[in-house]
Amino acid sequence: MGLSLRTLGSFVAVCCALLACGGDAPTAPRFEPPELGSLPTRVSERRCLVGVESGAPPPPRLSETGCFTSVVPLVATDELVPFAVVSPLFSDETHKSRWLAIPPGQRADWYDDGTLDVPVGSVLAKRFASEDGALELRFSVRAETGFVFFTYRFEGDDARLLEGQETTDFALPDGREAHYVFPARETCRTCHGEVGVLGPSVAQLTMPVRYDGVLRPQLDALTALGLVAPRPDAVGMPSPLDTEAPLEARARAYLHANCGHCHRPGGFAPVGLTLDLRWSTPTEATQTVCVPTQFAATAGEGMRIDPAYPDASVIVRRMRALGGDFPGPMPPVGRSVVDEHAAQLVREWAASLDASLCP
Ligand code: HEC
Ligand code: HEC
Repeated sequence: MGLSLRTLGSFVAVCCALLACGGDAPTAPRFEPPELGSLPTRVSERRCLVGVESGAPPPPRLSETGCFTSVVPLVATDELVPFAVVSPLFSDETHKSRWLAIPPGQRADWYDDGTLDVPVGSVLAKRFASEDGALELRFSVRAETGFVFFTYRFEGDDARLLEGQETTDFALPDGREAHYVFPARETCRTCHGEVGVLGPSVAQLTMPVRYDGVLRPQLDALTALGLVAPRPDAVGMPSPLDTEAPLEARARAYLHANCGHCHRPGGFAPVGLTLDLRWSTPTEATQTVCVPTQFAATAGEGMRIDPAYPDASVIVRRMRALGGDFPGPMPPVGRSVVDEHAAQLVREWAASLDASLCP
């Protein structure tokens, strides 16, 4: 038959996933085009965080930023255009909303690699919420030289500008306890340092969304608004949750959003580390499949992606690790619980590869 044990194993695993054999297997979330509310028309005057790009300090309270007409419930002004990314960063299962404000009369352009190049004075915002309610609202503002990053923690009927790191605990729907970290201002650069804007890119924005309940291609809607330059050749990446898309592409889309900001040339990873997890890098050049870890003393022994022993793949092990484990968790910051669906996805990708390719 030529069916290896491994293929048989993953075949059984897929059947189990489909039939939910074992009874209590959690059903994996599916991709649904997000509902983004209404698409505003562009405003003629800038009100949101004016002057922060030229050194003005961000106000101490969110209600004073000029970006939201109400904090509880949170209502953005028309200056802020809602958007979504097809492959989000996992942050302890928090729900996220994102907005983009480009100064009136201007529009964002694209770098060659498809990342968004926003003009000075642009504001990007992202809200995090747990099942219990809003946690924080993060901003990045495009300044003359680089970006300014800061975050507000929701408290009572407003939100307070944070300087240092703070934490809070909450229960996830499955009963696990998250030890959530509000990052200190200077640590935003760990992930955002190299590129600034991390989410909005051609690959991440080319996806169906709903504005006022109506399904639309997101990038077309943002282009029609004059917010971003046209990109006729746009090709998106799949949602990691889209079970119709190829396994490898789904795994690569997850690794891009959750790892690619550090694991890229110039990212926050050891100098000389050969791992490159950006979507734009061809799989052969990512240095994952059949490639042993480079710094085994800290990273753990084994292949980064091991087709013969998928669960032993160092990438899978570290996606399943928590603080205190060896090797330590990846990403090393930004989560306190495991994204098991994602670890399973990457594991399945590893298992689908031909082990005889490895030396
Ligand atoms: C663990 C890495 C990490 C850290 C630390 C981090 N971010 Fe991000 N951030 C991301 C990634 C990845 C995205 C894009 C994916 C998404 O939105 O789900 C993002 C998106 C954003 C966005 C939306 C615009 C964009 O660039 O995509 C804002 C605003 C933002 N972050 C602000 C902050 C601020 C402020 C801090 C510090 C208080 C911070 N971030 C810390 C990884 C990080
Ligand atoms: C905030 C930056 C950051 C993010 C995000 C991040 N990493 Fe890392 N990664 C590092 C650093 C720093 C090291 C080196 C130290 C270590 O191995 O713990 C590393 C090391 C590794 C190694 C070992 C490399 C070797 O061969 O020695 C692997 C594998 C890895 N990361 C996978 C991932 C995966 C998978 C993700 C996403 C799920 C991820 N990383 C996200 C910073 C990051």
